[in-house]
Amino acid sequence: MIPMENLNILATVEDKMPSKFKLVTFGCQMNKYDSEKMNGVLVSRGMVPVESTEDADLILVNTCSIREKAENKVFSFIGRLADLKQNNKNLLIGLGGCMATFNKEDIFRKAPNLDIVFGPDSIQKIPDLISQRLASGRKQIDVGLSDEITWDSPEQFVRENGVTGWVGIMKGCDNHCTYCVVPGTRGREISRPIESVVNEVKDLANRGFKEVYLIGQNVNSYGKGLSPEVTFPDLLRSVEKVEGISRIRFMSSHPKDLTEELIDVMKASRKICPSLHLPLQSGSDEVLERMNRGYKVSEYLSKLDKIREAIEGISISSDLMFGFPGETDEDYQATCDVMEKVRFDSLFLFNYSSRSGTPASEHQGHISRKVSQERFNNALILHKSIIAEKNREMEGRKVVVLCEDTYNGNMKLHSPDGKGFMYGRTRENTMVLFKGERHLIGQEIEINIYGVAGYNLLGNLV
Ligand code: 5AD
Ligand code: SF4
Repeated sequence: MIPMENLNILATVEDKMPSKFKLVTFGCQMNKYDSEKMNGVLVSRGMVPVESTEDADLILVNTCSIREKAENKVFSFIGRLADLKQNNKNLLIGLGGCMATFNKEDIFRKAPNLDIVFGPDSIQKIPDLISQRLASGRKQIDVGLSDEITWDSPEQFVRENGVTGWVGIMKGCDNHCTYCVVPGTRGREISRPIESVVNEVKDLANRGFKEVYLIGQNVNSYGKGLSPEVTFPDLLRSVEKVEGISRIRFMSSHPKDLTEELIDVMKASRKICPSLHLPLQSGSDEVLERMNRGYKVSEYLSKLDKIREAIEGISISSDLMFGFPGETDEDYQATCDVMEKVRFDSLFLFNYSSRSGTPASEHQGHISRKVSQERFNNALILHKSIIAEKNREMEGRKVVVLCEDTYNGNMKLHSPDGKGFMYGRTRENTMVLFKGERHLIGQEIEINIYGVAGYNLLGNLV
């Protein structure tokens, strides 16, 4: 029998459990997906999401620690919540994601406002951490990483929109890029069984989703450790069979693990979009070697040639990093040369950020921020000029987009009333803005392109 005083504590904890929560997400697609799980866990416990932090009695921040700048953004966001906590003694603040596993207990010193801290594998435990916080009065932390996939119930997810669904196919990373914290913050690479992935895709299809985005740190090494062992192309062939889904996308691909089999499957598929994110990081072999990337620039380029030959019109995006320790002007120039040669359709550019505990943080020849930023800025100018040219070539053409939602960005420059734009993506993943109505959401529609707005295209319904 539970002693009377413990029953009393339980009753008080139940009374005090938060009822309204606000979830704030920083970072990558995996984090957005994890936030959908968090949302699901809280909603299934009867809590209600609210729009503003002011209205919440639980604020959860899902965080990224890949670069110092990302962490600083989170620390200043949490710092700004101090006033809310002053005014509302019942407010609880939780922090999840990579900053939790990266900083562990130290996070409470850096952000004293926090009540609970949980890692990417402890999302299901959030309600327990809250109860324990309330019952004990002590801050709670669970940042353990599991050797198993800790999620498998799609009905628990609360999805961000109803057109494109993220589907995690693996977690962690077994690569050891010398600059990267992910293997430490998300643990060993573990693949999710094909049936489990396919079930989630079927669930999305049943709910009217049209597109799935298969996500993992390195999807090309999917399947290792599963029994029987399978490959990423095997998974793609299974997902292709799910009726109702018309577009399949995936990211990220590691160049060293990209196989001819993958190219063949993409070529043969009706649903896999002709679009590939293939992070290069640097155009210099010496830098790639010090990054421990496992390929040479020439190997990357010859894989790209094969892909472009097999899949006409495929768009290629990439990640590039500037200011890696020891990066010389020649190394930087080599990266620009690759940019001019490949003419990437989209790029994510980063300044190298030294992360404690990573091998690169111990490397010689750290580059000053000023030099790194200069290289970054010049590379951005180069990239913008390439994209402007590419986009101009699109003017006057007809494209097919899958309409995703109303566009909430700042379009005042292009539309006198600043309202009424919808957005969708081509199969090649270019975002297109057009005037239209909400009933178009989820439909594939034809658009005439008449102009360009930054990286996006502007069009009219045909
Ligand atoms: N500094 C800067 N960029 C980084 N990335 C990963 N770690 C770092 C770091 N320490 C970039 C890589 C990777 C992308 C997700 O983030 O380019 O592909
Ligand atoms: Fe980090 Fe490299 Fe793994 Fe990507 S592949 S998550 S950059 S270690």
